[in-house]
Amino acid sequence: MNILLAGGAGYIGSHTAVELLKAGHGVVIVDNYGNSSPEVIHRLEKLTGKNIPAYCADVRDEKAVSEILATHPIDCVIHFAGLKAVGESVRKPLEYYDNNINTTLTLLKCMKKAGVRNIVFSSSATVYGEENPIPYVETMKKGSCSNPYGWTKSMMEQILEDAAVADPELSVVLLRYFNPIGAHESGLIGEDPLGGPNNLMPYVAQVAVGRRDHLTIFGNDYPTPDGTCRRDYIHVVDLAVGHVKAVEFAASRKGTEVFNLGTGNPYSVLDIVAAFERNSGVSIRYEFGPRRAGDLPEFWANADKARRVLGWEASRDLDAMCRDTWNWQRNNPEGYRAPRG
Ligand code: NAD
Ligand code: WQD
Repeated sequence: MNILLAGGAGYIGSHTAVELLKAGHGVVIVDNYGNSSPEVIHRLEKLTGKNIPAYCADVRDEKAVSEILATHPIDCVIHFAGLKAVGESVRKPLEYYDNNINTTLTLLKCMKKAGVRNIVFSSSATVYGEENPIPYVETMKKGSCSNPYGWTKSMMEQILEDAAVADPELSVVLLRYFNPIGAHESGLIGEDPLGGPNNLMPYVAQVAVGRRDHLTIFGNDYPTPDGTCRRDYIHVVDLAVGHVKAVEFAASRKGTEVFNLGTGNPYSVLDIVAAFERNSGVSIRYEFGPRRAGDLPEFWANADKARRVLGWEASRDLDAMCRDTWNWQRNNPEGYRAPRG
């Protein structure tokens, strides 16, 4: 199949491109490089030995997206193109609603015009909100989100589901990611947060490489085994392989289906620090600070449905997640901005 990756130069999209190509599919990338770099495309070509058609365009631009779909015969779209910083979404809600909702609407309109029937969407565990018991199961009612970013995901899920009800030809797969970390084992691609990391693992990696002085752990008085929050961290390559399965599944049926992509195993912030130190040989300076607004004490996935229906299961453990993050970070201390000679 030929897959259009909207936001394909980003962290998860780039790893998915590699796994799709490895599985024998073709990929086309469209990205405005708002949170990524054209250098990603060069790295992907080096890594896969394939020529990757890539377009610099805003996915809200109907004319640009229609032209891409008219140029390439596309079987499925994967929609990664979103703004994703939780704190920023509280300060700039309109930008988040505009970007995230309108990219989705534009893709759906252009797909309809071009006769593309399948879409896989990057959703998030955040849609379970604050009320649901753990572990999260796909059959649970969505909850109330604690920030505009989360609401955009919840709304986009609804938009896609409604579109599939109205158009019986449409196949929608909603993938709810838990906490993706790690990098490709080659060290050529990885997570490169522009404007400073918001998430735990890139922060830890930047402390390790000397770009940050120390990590602040947000709260050590949670009702968890060691007092720090627990999350379901998943290797980004496992997540990418989940997309290959999802694309193949999308092409085989119609309507909407939702899958959690997680491991089902929670780790605490202190577990992550210890595992990173063990796998890098670098000690991570940290101090405890106050809780971060909106953080839940702990959540993880029930990952049974993806195993049963997609035949997918995460296979890389926490050591691999830390080893691959460190391999990427120490080979690219400044991310994509300072390409290796
Ligand atoms: P990312 O920022 O690295 O990738 C998103 C890509 O989309 C970037 O390359 C960015 O430049 C591009 N983009 C954004 N808006 C665009 C637009 N209007 N037009 C064209 N390109 C645009 O983020 P990621 O971590 O790879 O996440 C991918 C998707 O997965 C996002 O939708 C995100 O919300 C979702 N998600 C991420 C996580 C996570 O922890 N990383 C968890 C759950 C869900
Ligand atoms: C993990 C843990 C922090 C940074 C976010 C989004 C979620 C999804 C994934 C997109 C928490 C702690 C963090 C730091 C810390 N994204 N932490 N010091 O908050 O679980 O999920 O990313 O959909 O929607 O909310 O991930 O990596 O930010 O935090 O102590 O400097 O690390 O408190 O317990 P989170 P995270």
